[in-house]
Amino acid sequence: MNYTLPKWYDLHVHFRQGEAIGDYIRAHLDMGCAGALAMPNTKPPVAKVFEADDGDCWSIEGYRDQLMKAGANAFEHLLTPLYLTKDTDASMIASGAEKRLLQCAKYYPPHGTTNADHGYPLQKFMENGVFEAMQDNGVILNIHGEEHGLSGEQYFGQNSNAEDTFYSTHMVELREKFPKLKIVCEHITTKTAADFVARSGDNIGATITPQHLLYTVADLLQGLKYHLYCLPLVKFEEDRKSLLSSALSENNTQFFAGTDSAPHTEKATECGCAAGCFTGLIAPQLYAQAFDLNDSNLNAFKSFLCLNGANFYDLNVPKETFTLEKKPSQVTALETSVGSVTPLSLGLGQDTLDWTIKV
Ligand code: NCD
Ligand code: ZN
Repeated sequence: MNYTLPKWYDLHVHFRQGEAIGDYIRAHLDMGCAGALAMPNTKPPVAKVFEADDGDCWSIEGYRDQLMKAGANAFEHLLTPLYLTKDTDASMIASGAEKRLLQCAKYYPPHGTTNADHGYPLQKFMENGVFEAMQDNGVILNIHGEEHGLSGEQYFGQNSNAEDTFYSTHMVELREKFPKLKIVCEHITTKTAADFVARSGDNIGATITPQHLLYTVADLLQGLKYHLYCLPLVKFEEDRKSLLSSALSENNTQFFAGTDSAPHTEKATECGCAAGCFTGLIAPQLYAQAFDLNDSNLNAFKSFLCLNGANFYDLNVPKETFTLEKKPSQVTALETSVGSVTPLSLGLGQDTLDWTIKV
């Protein structure tokens, strides 16, 4: 089996900062990416629009420049969201949108994930004019949808978890208050979130990662496979099935690829584990595996990987193509100048994939 598809956009990826940026971008180009949305949780965060604006944080202008110099100029499109912090205000949104540097902005739950220390509660942005300005100026909101500050059973329990809570409370309110705001529910992991998106209009979409389509918390726990530790956590089989059927649905226009590929050179330490799975070089192969890609679901696969995200962000569908072939391929660690990064599959003890990619 051999499928040739248009190059695709990874609409949620972490390219980080420093010397390894170029290695991470190269890994994305080598898996057929025509573009990417590079998340702003760098150190320091990308929390202002223009280089000349006040504040010690990085700017979209400056971060784009770094990425371009490191190889992102080979992409057809590069999206660079603003990190929403306590210092974000409506005028930043309006001026950034006017100069066309600001196309999207990312909400992080305070302290909720890797480098989310600058996050600010969602409720504040509903009241301080930021979401209103985004809605008025057509700026897309990228949401990490987890309730922050929960512990124990409420954070990850039998009947609910931080994502369930977030989608059944804040997201309902957000959709009601800002009905025209374009929202991407990032890396959804639960049936609750998938149902929320499916019941919303076309202005609300969602990214789904390969790991959340393939694995559950059981895979993480059996043998404590910490390379599968990412946030939001992988959930239960009912959730995984719901994500998969959303992605596989014939008339799906709202769910699309965003790998959340998140390189960590130091994953587990004595005091814990960094959240994030690295799927550079291997994401289309993993998505193909999750779909069990074949002639009958090829259209759904193409919509999910190549069309829906491009449509949501108003990007062209690339003319260039890449090919997936059902033939085993080897997975190896990515060696960078700042250290070695273990791809998810290798971290789960699998050094071969079912699919081979040709770009
Ligand atoms: C991401 C990272 O490492 O930057 N980690 C993760 O577990 N997904 C941050 C994020 O997207 O939450
Ligand atoms: Zn992410």
